[in-house]
Amino acid sequence: MKAITLAKPGGLDRLTMTDMEDPGAPGPGEIRVRIRASSLNYHDYGVVSGNMPTEDRRIPMSDGAGEVESVGEGVTEFKLGDRIVSGFFPLWQDGEPPVDHFKTTPGDGVDGYAREIVVRPATWFTHAPKGYSHEEAATLTTAGLTAWRALVVDGGLKAGDSVLVLGTGGVSIFGLKLAKAMGANVVATSSSDEKLERLTALGADHVINYKKTDNWGTKVRNWTGGRGVDHVVEVGGPATLAQSITACRIGGHIALIGVLTGRSGEVPTAALMAKQQTLKGLIVGSRRHQMDFVRGIESSGLKPEIDSTFPMAEIADAFRHEESGKHFGKICLTI
Ligand SMILES: NC(=O)c1ccc[n+]([C@@H]2O[C@H](COP(=O)([O-])OP(=O)(O)OC[C@H]3O[C@@H](n4cnc5c(N)ncnc54)[C@H](OP(=O)(O)O)[C@@H]3O)[C@@H](O)[C@H]2O)c1
Repeated sequence: MKAITLAKPGGLDRLTMTDMEDPGAPGPGEIRVRIRASSLNYHDYGVVSGNMPTEDRRIPMSDGAGEVESVGEGVTEFKLGDRIVSGFFPLWQDGEPPVDHFKTTPGDGVDGYAREIVVRPATWFTHAPKGYSHEEAATLTTAGLTAWRALVVDGGLKAGDSVLVLGTGGVSIFGLKLAKAMGANVVATSSSDEKLERLTALGADHVINYKKTDNWGTKVRNWTGGRGVDHVVEVGGPATLAQSITACRIGGHIALIGVLTGRSGEVPTAALMAKQQTLKGLIVGSRRHQMDFVRGIESSGLKPEIDSTFPMAEIADAFRHEESGKHFGKICLTI
């Protein structure tokens, strides 16, 4: 079987297509999966670029979708031909998060899904939503589930709420679409006027160019009539958090998700305290969250926004496209 491996110390020119031994038949509790698609995340970029060091010859990519080729003894949840999607934290099945690291995350601490075939415990996967292509399903593992957890699991989103999403990457566009599907009002930002038009076409109720608007947090709050938004999907980090606090209402919820502007920085603690906001860090979600998300997708008809799809052999070009920041939504790999 073919797979992509990453040579140490990482870098897009160290991604190589390799022939590997077929993993064989599944053991008890395992399934054999023909992986058909993956999708790129900022985290995957961190790994392949060498910014997040990993083992030599690591198979990258956290997200994997495909179909079941055979099931091992005792597996009742899946059968031959089922379309499935991988989980980000394979050992976090339900309940409170037991992890604060990526040691078990495919494509980082363990081998990922830039490969044709994998044999793994059935519990490392869930069913994919009915009617989804493999590429669409592959967008759920990381970006989709993060948006779901931020808004629905942690945020308790309800119809009539207002949501702020930052930029037009995978998590944010999922946040926009999910919020609209659930009857919320959405304000979205981007560095590009052309992307702002696309955000409006997707249903954003208000858009702001964050590069041209220094005080975009105040503009967001003004848009809500001075009240502030109920939820912020905070993917920026240190350089955006202060404005997100300004944009959010008293008692609102800020899901602290991203590091697009850096890994640490100042937090205006007095403003956060005075506004009595909840600032909650999160990393993706559990298998239970993913199963609930799939049900939510099937009942709402939510679909991811796919910017472009590259063949697995062109994985480095796919990451160059992400690096360029020209994408809008998800970049996928066909495997
Ligand atoms: N905690 C978690 O569970 C989790 C899960 C997934 C992702 N993340 C994190 O969330 C962030 C986004 O990930 P992703 O995979 O969605 O990334 P992505 O698809 O690569 O999105 C990047 C986009 O972010 C926007 N952006 C960049 N700098 C910005 C800024 N200063 N303010 C607002 N928007 C900005 C840009 O949009 P425009 O071109 O429109 O300006 C850019 O196209 C990353 O930091 C990633 O590590 C965290």
